[in-house]
Amino acid sequence: MALKIIDHGSKEYRQMVKLRDDILRKPLGLGFTEEELQEEKDNMLIAAFEDDDILGCCMLVEESPEVIRLRQMAVLNDLQGKGIGRALMTFAENLARDRGYKILSMHARKNVTGFYEKMGYKVVGNEFIEVTIPHYVMQKKL
Ligand SMILES: CC(C)(COP(=O)(O)OP(=O)(O)OC[C@H]1O[C@@H](n2cnc3c(N)ncnc32)[C@H](O)[C@@H]1OP(=O)(O)O)[C@@H](O)C(=O)NCCC(=O)NCCS
Repeated sequence: MALKIIDHGSKEYRQMVKLRDDILRKPLGLGFTEEELQEEKDNMLIAAFEDDDILGCCMLVEESPEVIRLRQMAVLNDLQGKGIGRALMTFAENLARDRGYKILSMHARKNVTGFYEKMGYKVVGNEFIEVTIPHYVMQKKL
């Protein structure tokens, strides 16, 4: 498995959008708009590949000079529970640390807070609804 940073608009990016659509949006009856995808132009886009096949992804976006936010973490359904999410998280944290950020923050879906807790993240504040389902802000000092 190779972890890499991919370019917005590339073939790999189209694979990433399909994966995110399949895993994160379609099950909720939702999709992505062109505007939403355009706004990702300056995000750090991270993906795990086996040869030409995408296995999982996530992305990072600056919230402030100290805080970076993880978004759109997803692993193919059949490959979940095999360490790909952990590898993506470690890669994203190292990238964020290298670029000088002090805190990694995210909107975590309530049903996967256990995954982020395993990675050392703590819930901050109250439950809220996003993309129709319950979430928590979770954070960790890098
Ligand atoms: C959440 C997700 C990214 C985790 O990736 P993954 O590759 O399945 O996770 P890993 O195999 O690397 O798991 C790492 C550890 O977290 C644990 N874990 C994984 N998912 C978990 C969950 N939902 N609840 C509690 N613990 C979980 C694993 O058991 C493993 O623990 P271990 O190291 O003690 O064995 C993946 O399951 C996924 O894509 N889910 C659907 C989309 C989603 O909800 N994304 C998150 C949006 S905020």
